[in-house]
Amino acid sequence: MKVLITRPIPEEGIKLLRKVGHRLDIYEKDDVMPRKELLKRVKGVDALLSLLNDKIDDEVFAAAGANLKIVANYAVGFDNVDLAAAKKRGIIVTNTPAPEVSETVAEHTFTLMLALAHRVVESDGYARAEKYKGWGPNLLLGTDVYGKTLGIVGLGRIGMAVAQRAVKGFKMKCVYADMKPNREFEKEFGARRVSIEKLLQTADFVTLHVPLLPSTRHLLSTKQFNLMKKTAFVINTARGPIVDEKALLKALKAKKIAGAALDVFECEPSIDCDLTDKLELKAFPNVVLTPHTASATIEARQAMSKLAGENIVAVLAGKAPLTPAK
Ligand SMILES: NC(=O)c1ccc[n+]([C@@H]2O[C@H](COP(=O)([O-])OP(=O)(O)OC[C@H]3O[C@@H](n4cnc5c(N)ncnc54)[C@H](O)[C@@H]3O)[C@@H](O)[C@H]2O)c1
Repeated sequence: MKVLITRPIPEEGIKLLRKVGHRLDIYEKDDVMPRKELLKRVKGVDALLSLLNDKIDDEVFAAAGANLKIVANYAVGFDNVDLAAAKKRGIIVTNTPAPEVSETVAEHTFTLMLALAHRVVESDGYARAEKYKGWGPNLLLGTDVYGKTLGIVGLGRIGMAVAQRAVKGFKMKCVYADMKPNREFEKEFGARRVSIEKLLQTADFVTLHVPLLPSTRHLLSTKQFNLMKKTAFVINTARGPIVDEKALLKALKAKKIAGAALDVFECEPSIDCDLTDKLELKAFPNVVLTPHTASATIEARQAMSKLAGENIVAVLAGKAPLTPAK
């Protein structure tokens, strides 16, 4: 059967699809497939392997036609896919929450947290600029992560993998906010479920791991930053629009919080939505930025490729998908 893949991805899933005998049409360039090209090449396919920066909506489904049975989104998040429109047409949507991805994103979250606390990026810039003239007791003083309180917003796969590192590795205390309580987790990790307001008031590090939904858009805005401790940091490796970036910039300028690390951006791929108020993220030394690379390891990306391939193989064989998006 015919599968359209919107961008070259690591080979695990490709090999699997070829082994089963599916015919693959892979977009040639390592870039987002132009919309026009997508609408043209999707015609008549049985499966579509899409990326998080492809907008997959009813126009795409209409262009594909009646053969399309599955959209395998090569990402954990699936806010780029119109699930309701897919459901109406009986198209299955899957994502790639492989266990490797949770570990990788948790590792990246921790990398950002440590980079903020130990001022790694600032220190690197200082050393490279040849400003270092000798050890000093007050040079680039940071703060410890060890023993501090971590506030996890969204205790799912990634939130739990972050907690594991925090509590077992860094002896942090842990509070979390989630719609669902997880009593087992609370017992094992000595964690408490609290309201988001309480979490913001308590935590030294606030880390976001909720999906992007209408209910989580701008979950952190002015009111929430005002609740945070002036010494607290925020880390976002979930989705950009969960943080109101304008409010974040204002909070940073007013020193309402100590710093922020972002892997995702509200107006991605732009780092700043606009510069009308002359505030930009990169101007703050206490801000660490990575370009949506939280899952960018060979291990995680191969696991995502394999899982996307497995989902397509299953659905095209008339079986249930391994990881339906829901
Ligand atoms: N930066 C990256 O490269 C990258 C990589 C993977 C995943 N992600 C993002 O991370 C998100 C989380 O991934 P996951 O695998 O842990 O998902 P998950 O579904 O396992 O966990 C999400 C958790 O958030 C909770 N939640 C949902 N809405 C909430 C709300 N309004 N308030 C509080 N809790 C709420 C859910 O109950 C669930 O426990 C994904 O949706 C994705 O957008 C980003």
